Parts: sequence; C-alpha cells; structure tokens
Amino acid sequence: MKASLKSLAINGGPKVKNTPFTRGARYGETEMEQIREVFRNGSLSYWSKFKVKSFCEKVKEYFKCQYCAGGSSGSAVIHAAVAALEIPPGYEVISSPITDVGSLIGILYQNLIPVFADVDPYSYNITAESIRKRITNRTKAIIVVHLAGNPCEMDEIIALAQQYNIPVIEDCAQAYNGIYKGKKVGTIGNIGCFSLNESKHISCGDGGFAITNDEELYYKIHNYLDKYYDRHQRGCRMHHLAPCYRLSELQYAVAFAQLDKIDAITTARRRNAELLTDKIKHNQAIVVPKVHPHSQSSFWFYMFRVKPEKINCSLSDLVEALQAEGISAVTGYIPRPIYMEKMFAEKAFFPGGIWPAEIISSRTYDYGRGLCPTAEEVLSSSIRIPISEFYSKQDMEDMATAINKVLNVYQNKKYFGGS
Ligand SMILES: Cc1ncc(COP(=O)(O)O)c(C=O)c1O
Repeated sequence: MKASLKSLAINGGPKVKNTPFTRGARYGETEMEQIREVFRNGSLSYWSKFKVKSFCEKVKEYFKCQYCAGGSSGSAVIHAAVAALEIPPGYEVISSPITDVGSLIGILYQNLIPVFADVDPYSYNITAESIRKRITNRTKAIIVVHLAGNPCEMDEIIALAQQYNIPVIEDCAQAYNGIYKGKKVGTIGNIGCFSLNESKHISCGDGGFAITNDEELYYKIHNYLDKYYDRHQRGCRMHHLAPCYRLSELQYAVAFAQLDKIDAITTARRRNAELLTDKIKHNQAIVVPKVHPHSQSSFWFYMFRVKPEKINCSLSDLVEALQAEGISAVTGYIPRPIYMEKMFAEKAFFPGGIWPAEIISSRTYDYGRGLCPTAEEVLSSSIRIPISEFYSKQDMEDMATAINKVLNVYQNKKYFGGS
C-alpha cells in the first residue's frame, strides 16, 4: 500500500513517536564527590593546582599526549592555540565554513584573516584538496573541524600542511573519541582543542582544554589563557597581550569526573547512529553521512542529506512533518555557511567598520554567497537529528520509521502539488 499524505501526523494521521525519548542524568554523585574535595581543599582557584592538575593528568593519560592546558571554553582554548602560533597580524588562517563561530573567534581576535575551504559533500568536512586551493604565501595555520565527531581525512591534510610548513589545529569540540586510523582526533595535528560546554559529549557547564606534544606550544597556550603571566617562571611575564580565560577548580572537578564517561557515551552514540543509518540508508531520497571505513565518528549530532530531485516538497516541509511525528528534526546544522552571516558579509567584526587585519594585509577579503558552493548546498539540503547516549533501540527505530515514512510520502509523485 502506498503511503498517503493523509497518513502523516501533520495531516491528522497517527504519530510515529508516542512514547517519550529515554533520558538520563549527565551529572551525579561522582561529580559531586569531586566538588566536595575542592571545598575540602579550601580554594576555588586553578592556581591551587589541585583539581586542575589531576584533570590535566587524566587528559594526558586518556589521549596519551604530553601536555594539556585548560581554559574557560572551547573558543578560549582555540583562541589561545591560534595566539600560541604567534603569527603576525594580517596573515591568513584556513578553516571550515560549517562550524561554530568558536572556531573562528581566535583568528579574528588575533587580527588574522579567516579563509574558508569548501567541504566534502557527504562528510561535510574540509579536505586536503579544498584546503590546497586556498593556500597562499600568507597562509600561516589551518584549523580543521571534525564536524559532529566525524574525523577529517587527516593523513592528506597533514601531508599538505607539512609540504607548506603550516601548523594544524584540530577543533575537536564535537569530536571526543573520534577515531582516525586508530588515533584519537586531537592528537594528530600540532594542537587539539576540546569544548566542555553543556551541549558537548562531556561537560562542566563551560570550559575547554588544549592538548599537544610540543613543549613550547604548551607553555605559550598556557600563557595566552592566563594574561601572559609567567606562571611557570620561564622569564616571559607579559611578553604579549593575552586574555584571561581561566577556569575554576569547581569546573575542573566536574570535568575530571566526566572524563571517565567519554568512552561509554561515544560508544552508545555510535551504536545509536549506526542503527539509524542501517534503517534509512536504503531510502532513495536520503544520503546518509559518510564516515570513512578507517574512521569512527562520535556523532555529536546526526545529519543526513535529502536528494532534492527525489522530493516534491521543501526541506522545511519535511522537517515540520518529522516534528509532527515526534522527532525533533531541524534543517541543516547552522542555517547557512558561517561566512554568509552578517558579521562576515559586512566585515563588521569590530565597531566603526574598521577591520584592522584587512588594513594591515593591504588586501581586500570578501565573504558571501558562492565562496564555498558545496557547503552552501550541504546546508540547504540537510536534516539534523539529535543523537543521545541515552536513547534506546526503540527510540532509534521510531526515528528511522518516522524518517522513512515522511520521506516516502513526499517521494510519491502521485501527490505532487497537492493532497
Ligand atoms: C566545532 C566547534 N568549535 C568550537 C566551539 C566553541 O566551544 P565553546 O562553546 O565551548 O566556546 C563549538 C561549540 O559549540 C563547536 O561546536
């Protein structure tokens, strides 16, 4: 029997998801005990080197890396990582057009120029090929973003970066335990940056940390997170301008306990996402997200693409129909590539219409539609579905049923243009 428009919940048909999604508590007694220890220790400042030390030790053990520096957010540690590269103002940093602005804040505050490489149409990540097209003699860093936890093709990117002697920062805010050829993302480039904000795989409300195996970079990142004060007595007090991005002991305490949960959370999310992929990948109107066979995504969210030529309605019609079926779907990840936001399009980064980085560069940089056509196409043809480690098998099956139901109805040409 063919699915009819009347069968959709949005048109009064039976709703697919009638039971609530399974939920769970993210924080509990283990976090509380860590907080109690901080109070017993008597200081809430990271300067007491109590929880911050044990947090960084545990991070180093988990990632098998040599250095870890904590800060007040993912954006803060990315800023400190960019600053630590000590690139003179006016030079270029390549990054992704599909990301949170937190990947780019540090570039702009360091008076550098963000340059956008286009993305792969199915993984939504920037590629070595797209980065190569953007490299100039002014390129001084690359920030790759492992979107939704899906690792970028790092071997190719690192080979390219080495060819041009350009450092690579990995933005792993969404990518805890993303695995690329057996390596954890964040340990492949020169610096890996993570976010601990409330929405991420693990959290302490707000926070972040950077990891590296480069001793000099570590000290510089640390300096840039704390006013460039000479906290390690290395004779570099206030050598440069640096913000104050410290995190309190209370947050390190929560983050310390959360670190133990990364593997369970990412394994559950992966299992849930794979279940969904299995059940929707045969749908003629859908392209499921591409994860390379040598990679493992940690699925911070799940975003699939819709083939516009197979569907006789708009993306928002699909999303509204899915929502009516009880699935909290949204269009795209961000509404449009980040360079199409007003701040970029009008280069309104600073008040008064003055963008010091561009003036210093003696060049003109323009942002707007057409810069990265694939990124634009991806975001205008994608539907994002939340993934949670708490969702049950039934939750995932209901999601798949709803997606197939809605997509099948709107694929049915019989109903083109009406009911
Ligand atoms: C890819 C990416 N980079 C950077 C950030 C910034 O992290 P935070 O919100 O902790 O500053 C986020 C946060 O949403 C992110 O998703």
